[in-house]
Amino acid sequence: MTKQIGILTAGGDSPGLNAAIRGVGKAAEGYYGMEIIGFRDGFRGLAENRTVRLGGDSLSGILTLGGTILGTSRDKPHKMIVGGKTHDMTDAIIENYHSNHLDALVCLGGGGTQKNSLRLAQQGLNIITLPKTIDNDVAMTDVTFGFDTAMNIATDAIDRLHSTAHSHHRIIVVEIMGHRTGWLTLGSGVAGGADVILIPEIAYDVDSVAEAIRNRVRKGKGFSIVAVAEGAMSRVHAAALQEAIDMRDKAVDKTEKQKAKDELAAIKALESEHTIHLAHELEELTGLEARVSILGHLQRGGTPSAADRVLATLLGSACADYIAQDIYGVMVACRAGETKAVPLEQVAGQRKTIPLDHPWVKAARRVGTNLGD
Ligand code: F6P
Repeated sequence: MTKQIGILTAGGDSPGLNAAIRGVGKAAEGYYGMEIIGFRDGFRGLAENRTVRLGGDSLSGILTLGGTILGTSRDKPHKMIVGGKTHDMTDAIIENYHSNHLDALVCLGGGGTQKNSLRLAQQGLNIITLPKTIDNDVAMTDVTFGFDTAMNIATDAIDRLHSTAHSHHRIIVVEIMGHRTGWLTLGSGVAGGADVILIPEIAYDVDSVAEAIRNRVRKGKGFSIVAVAEGAMSRVHAAALQEAIDMRDKAVDKTEKQKAKDELAAIKALESEHTIHLAHELEELTGLEARVSILGHLQRGGTPSAADRVLATLLGSACADYIAQDIYGVMVACRAGETKAVPLEQVAGQRKTIPLDHPWVKAARRVGTNLGD
């Protein structure tokens, strides 16, 4: 019997998604004789049964394309806004899975997608996932596809910012994506020779950062590059956040709970502005002019790097192997250069943060980079 497999891309897009679709599709169709359909726009397209036949020519010419030919969304199967209201679309998804006679569904995504995929696997569907995100924060895999490309883009940006910072004797604070982890900032910061690297894993002391910059000035280096992760936090901010969380957890009545909630919301609101705030603080503390550059979605666009194309092809083609062996409920991970099927239970809800003794952290410290502590 010809196996029918479905494939979707969910969560934020990232370079390498099309290479992975091609990897799964070409191996599944060409090597194993399976048939493939795609679902548009992540779990929403699955819930709404918006399909596209993949195979043959449709899998050609996409290896180098950025984004995803299927489209994506951040919709969750169990909490989807339909007609202005939140609905649990799990039953519709199960029905569409069966009406398309699927033997397996491949979900390409980051941390949120792994969680949603586990929920569907627990409903009895044959699910297999691949780890995609520029943030590199998916647990149980050494690396995710999209990360290398984004790291190259951020490194190129830091390289370019160096010359303008140098010419104007300025501090340039460059904000880099990564959600709640610092992989992208640390990797591109080390590669681009940033003078200060601030990551969520290490709450920073703004005085330590200012002193590092003043120190450079004393050595005749009138400019500095500060690479800051979007999720980085000062010690003051981290302490206030912890206090509000404790307050919420210890709240004994509705009034106390509401007060803690308001406090948390106020602290979270400050997060979106933290890079600009940091630049102002550094100007005051060092007397140097500072400018901010927020790289944003530039980091997610464009052609995937060679490393991401190789990784996506490796994981995608291995995914077809696992389907051929009826291995489901797993994520196809990359471990020490090999592929490994890891149970979704070990991946979902976990976040891979940077260990404080990670070789990249040690290397950054050894070359004199200030990490804010
Ligand atoms: O997860 C990828 C990512 O780019 C994060 O680095 C960032 O925090 C987030 O997505 C941005 O999401 P959106 O594209 O929905 O604004």
